[in-house]
Parts: sequence; C-alpha cells; structure tokens
Amino acid sequence: AVSPSTAAAATAKADKKITMGFAQVGAESGWRSANTKSVQDSAKEAGIELKFSDAQQKQENQIKAIRTYIQQKVDVIAFSPVVESGWDTVLKEAKDANIPVILTDRAVDSKDTSLYRTFIGSDFVEEGRSAGKWLVDKYKDTKEAVNIVELQGTTGSAPANDRKAGFDEIIKSNPNLKVIASQTGDFTRAKGKEVMQAFLKANKNINVLYAHNDDMALGAIQAIEEAGLKPGKDIIIISVDGVKDGFVAASEGKINFIVECNPLLGGQLMQAAKDVLSGKELPKRIVTKEGVFTSEDAKRELPNRQY
Ligand code: AHR
Repeated sequence: AVSPSTAAAATAKADKKITMGFAQVGAESGWRSANTKSVQDSAKEAGIELKFSDAQQKQENQIKAIRTYIQQKVDVIAFSPVVESGWDTVLKEAKDANIPVILTDRAVDSKDTSLYRTFIGSDFVEEGRSAGKWLVDKYKDTKEAVNIVELQGTTGSAPANDRKAGFDEIIKSNPNLKVIASQTGDFTRAKGKEVMQAFLKANKNINVLYAHNDDMALGAIQAIEEAGLKPGKDIIIISVDGVKDGFVAASEGKINFIVECNPLLGGQLMQAAKDVLSGKELPKRIVTKEGVFTSEDAKRELPNRQY
C-alpha cells in the first residue's frame, strides 16, 4: 500500500506548477517572432511558468541561458539550437542534474540521443526537396543553363544545412540547373538585401533566387527592385517559411513559390513537457506537417494567415 506521506508527495508533485526554461535563437525573422509568440501563448494556456531568453543568434548565449536554467532547477528545458554542433557538454550537465531537455524547431548533431527526450519540428531536408522539385518541374523543357543564386540561412544551423542538402539532391537531376553563387544571409532581411546586392553586382545573368527563408527573400526583393529588375519575373524567387509578409509578396507575384515551415510549435511543446514530466516515453522525433504555396495559392490563403 502507498503510505499517506508518499501519496501526499505525489499529489504535491502533480499539483506543482511546471517551470520551463526556454532558450530561443533570437528575433532574426518573422518566423521567429511567430514562434516566440506561440511558445509564450501556449505556456500561458497550459499553465506552465516560462522563463524565456533570447540568444541573439549566438550559441554561447544559449549555453549560458541553459546553465542558468540548470542552476535555477527548472523542471524542463526547451531550446531551439542556433547551430547543430557543440552541445554535448551542456546537455550532459542538464542530464546529470536530472532535468529533461526537449529540442524544438532545430536539431543538434549529438551522437548520444539520450541527451534530449524528443525533437519537435519540421523536416528541413524535405523543405529543400520541395523547393527543388518545383524548380525542376518549372524548367523541365529548358535547354539553356538556369543560373541560380542561393541565400543560405545561418551558417551551421540545421535549416541552412538541410535546406541546401535537400535542394541540391533534387536539382542535380537536371544539369542545366546551376547554383552559381551561394552565401549566408543569416536569415535576416538586412543581410538578404546586402548579399543579393553583391550577387547582382558579380553576376549579370541571374535567373533564380533560392532563399532559405522569407525574410532574406524580402530583403533580396528590395535589392532586385533597386537594380531595376522585376522580382518574380526577371528573377524567379523561391523561399521557405510562409509568414504573412512572404505571402503578401507571393500574392503580388514577387515570390513565385513558398515552402511552408510552421512556427506554431508551442502547443506541441507544452504537451510534450507535460508528458515527459509525467513519465511518458515520447517518440524521439515529432515532425510538423506543412504545405507549399504558389503565388495563386498565396493570394487565396493570405486572408487566413495569422502570422
Ligand atoms: O529554424 C527555422 C528557421 O529559422 C526559419 O525558417 C527562419 O526564418 C528562422 O530564422
């Protein structure tokens, strides 16, 4: 039989408000702002106390924040790793302190998967493949070279690595499709514009821009317009995310194809935290569902877009 004191302890634990330490990447994009809002709103709805930190796209800040959460003895730590590598030491510290870790949005490349309980987020390789498939289909009858420039996300981040890999894997089926320049724009509008300006200066014949997110595409659109060219016509544009501003540009025909990446991960994250703390075994990978949008789809969907 369970002693009254053990039963009381279990009830007290079940009744205790969960505290989550969340180490966010930064505020680099519209996607990230929507993701932050989703995490904060969902924590409130779930009755979870949220300690939130913004790492300003720097891994060392995220590691510091995680160490602070360990010292504060939070119940669960969640984070979206800026880059994929270099997490084993701090994840081991959390494990030794008996604090479960949930990865959200971005992955780590740790070999020891016991360092985290689950990873909730998109399949970025598949996103890159979707972008590539649309392009391969668009140029299936073209006999000339198609010059592509690529704006990569943050160097070393899972979405930059995977969106590139998925895209490259698909476009190699058509040797006419050539990536003539590829550089990071760090997922921001300002960098997207700056790098696109440099691409335009160095290359006369750019046919396609593949941007790893909407914000960089939006910055690049400014550069293209300032160069006297028509985005979406003179230069075909593909991007990833599907935030409202991206949808507006797509509905105006300035972005031709958007691969969706869903930022609304807060609900799933809070549920996962509750499950982990009540002793449930979670699948190691929870993949988010998402779609793709042409300019026409974007026009139709724009009024429903919440973020
Ligand atoms: O990790 C998700 C990516 O991070 C989004 O595609 C991008 O906009 C954000 O900055």
